[in-house]
Amino acid sequence: MRTQVGIVGAGPAGLLLSHLLHLHGIGSVVLEAHSRDYVEKRVRAGVLEQGTVNTLVGTGVGDRLLREGLVHHGIELRFGGRPHRIAFERLVPGRAITIYGQQEVVKDLIAARLAAGGQILFEVSDVVPDDIATACPVISFTHDGHRRRLDCDVIAGCDGSHGVCRAAIPDGALTVFAREYPFAWLGVLAEVPPSADELIYAHSDRGFALHSMRSPSLSRFYLQVDRDEDVAKWPDERFWAELRVRIETVPGWRLRDGPVLEKIVTPMRSFVAEPMRYGSLYLAGDAAHIVPPTGAKGLNLAAFDVGVLTEALAAWYADGSTGLLDEYSATCLRRVWRVQHFSWWMTTLLHTFGDDDGYGRRLQRSQLEYVASSDAAAASLAENYVGLARV
Ligand code: FAD
Ligand code: PHB
Repeated sequence: MRTQVGIVGAGPAGLLLSHLLHLHGIGSVVLEAHSRDYVEKRVRAGVLEQGTVNTLVGTGVGDRLLREGLVHHGIELRFGGRPHRIAFERLVPGRAITIYGQQEVVKDLIAARLAAGGQILFEVSDVVPDDIATACPVISFTHDGHRRRLDCDVIAGCDGSHGVCRAAIPDGALTVFAREYPFAWLGVLAEVPPSADELIYAHSDRGFALHSMRSPSLSRFYLQVDRDEDVAKWPDERFWAELRVRIETVPGWRLRDGPVLEKIVTPMRSFVAEPMRYGSLYLAGDAAHIVPPTGAKGLNLAAFDVGVLTEALAAWYADGSTGLLDEYSATCLRRVWRVQHFSWWMTTLLHTFGDDDGYGRRLQRSQLEYVASSDAAAASLAENYVGLARV
């Protein structure tokens, strides 16, 4: 087989890249380890920045997003028994976020690619990127019991944090920067209408809690738990009781509960691999960087990377210019590090740290009071949260 861009991974990064390249007349083949059903049902991110929405709508894959997405003009920080609204409409006029599940974005992109005759091979195994230091890279893989070979001009490593692409880069060529946090998130999807109109980020002495949603009838919740927490230790009753203690802290506010559809534990970490290119291999999305989800940024950053990569590849195919490709890593990393800082800041602001002697807790309270009382501080949070237009 031969294509122009060989894409490993049918997550948001790989699928959006394939779609954007197609609109520029550039061919690609997407190789995905899991089944279509699996990737379409994997519940993960829910918050889309304005820029991500604009990309999806502007390229013809936003119809359902516009119909079903919930546009939010603020978020709530809840601490000290009071609600504090970060009002986007006043602090960052004209900018908002849209709540629309990542798996819905994935479904829309898969449908668009297949309708346009795009090639996505699901359930491939033993994917091996090869000759990546040369101008003729190759991807070998097994599909339907046959070993196959895909020759390409470039490879896009969109295979997430545990993928094979980053691992194919020789030792010493990448520098990795990382932080592990001493906690995880227990994420729950429940069949119950949201208990509030906007997201609630709750600071509590028992650990962080988040109230989010997916639709008028589906709520999404997260609880800070121990790093290696066993999900079996969280029967539904314990989950609801703990969530209530952490989030029902405002007089008169009540949490609605309902049937739990899914429960998973996700460890929190920050990670960046530099540079995001080696020879003919370009890394994008979680394959190159991870942020803790407190800032709701991972999917949005993945969408940004592939937008930059598309423009660079389009210029190269149009007239052979390599300038944008040469700048790909540096262009992406400027935004990656802004988002790394914001996600780390939100994470350290809102979680409890076991080894804290009280000093860290007081710093958090001071910063939260500052954000709640100063428009300058709140505007900084707001503009990072909705997504900076330029970095
Ligand atoms: P992935 O979605 O990980 O996709 C990679 C794909 O590659 C997968 O389909 C995988 O099966 C495939 N793959 C892996 N290895 C191979 C292989 N060897 N061969 C072939 N295929 C392979 N981000 C936000 O922006 N907002 C949020 O609100 C938010 N909340 C989150 C909540 C949780 C609980 C979690 C876990 C994450 C959250 N994120 C959020 C982060 C977001 O989900 C990720 O950043 C996003 O999925 C990255 O997309 P990606 O395409 O780079 O990687
Ligand atoms: C979600 O709805 O999944 C979500 C919302 C906000 C976050 C993280 C996840 O910060």
